[in-house]
Amino acid sequence: MSEPFTVAIDGPAAAGKGTISKAVAEQLGFAHLDTGLLYRAVGARVLAGEEPLTAAQALTREDLERDDLRTAEVAQAASKVAVIAEVRSALMEFQRSFARRAGGAVLDGRDIGTVICPQAEAKLFVTASAEVRAERRYLELAAKGDRTTRAEVLADVTERDRRDRERATAPLEAAGDAVVIDTSDMSIEDAIAAAMRAVTAKGARR
Ligand code: DC
Repeated sequence: MSEPFTVAIDGPAAAGKGTISKAVAEQLGFAHLDTGLLYRAVGARVLAGEEPLTAAQALTREDLERDDLRTAEVAQAASKVAVIAEVRSALMEFQRSFARRAGGAVLDGRDIGTVICPQAEAKLFVTASAEVRAERRYLELAAKGDRTTRAEVLADVTERDRRDRERATAPLEAAGDAVVIDTSDMSIEDAIAAAMRAVTAKGARR
């Protein structure tokens, strides 16, 4: 597919969006942008002492390649800077132009189908119960040698969900025309297959 085609994938923390988005992008030959990384990179700069808006305006490609963006501390900082409307605006143009690139794009985040790309050709909302999401994130962190406990991971996920859903600007919510996929009782293969069915039904092809 050489003309633009945007796949918007939103959902709460650790619902499987990242894995599903990567797989869908790979199967379609589309580019993929994990928009959470933008907020994490801003959060990391703020933890290092910068002002949130200055940090958002100064982001570079190298910021997104830092290997310390996947910690719970950076995730919390990301969720906090994501409440600030000016920070969200500063990151908007980059996301929109990525979405309309030739050859198709998959973007995953919280507000892609609602605010960044309301005209996206295909929209998914990927979710799962808080307990299932926390357990998956816990196993992921434990495999990397992180000693965070299950209870800490559940508290982090629940707190971020609440902040992401309750903020005034671009809160986490499913677009009215999104296909909702609840992955609580699904294997990752089944979740990817469900996402591919939904996206190809909207006309996406390689
Ligand atoms: O997807 P993630 O867990 O890496 O995102 C980290 C935080 O960034 C999340 O808690 C809220 C914020 N975020 C956002 O507000 N909008 C997006 N499109 C993506 C992430």
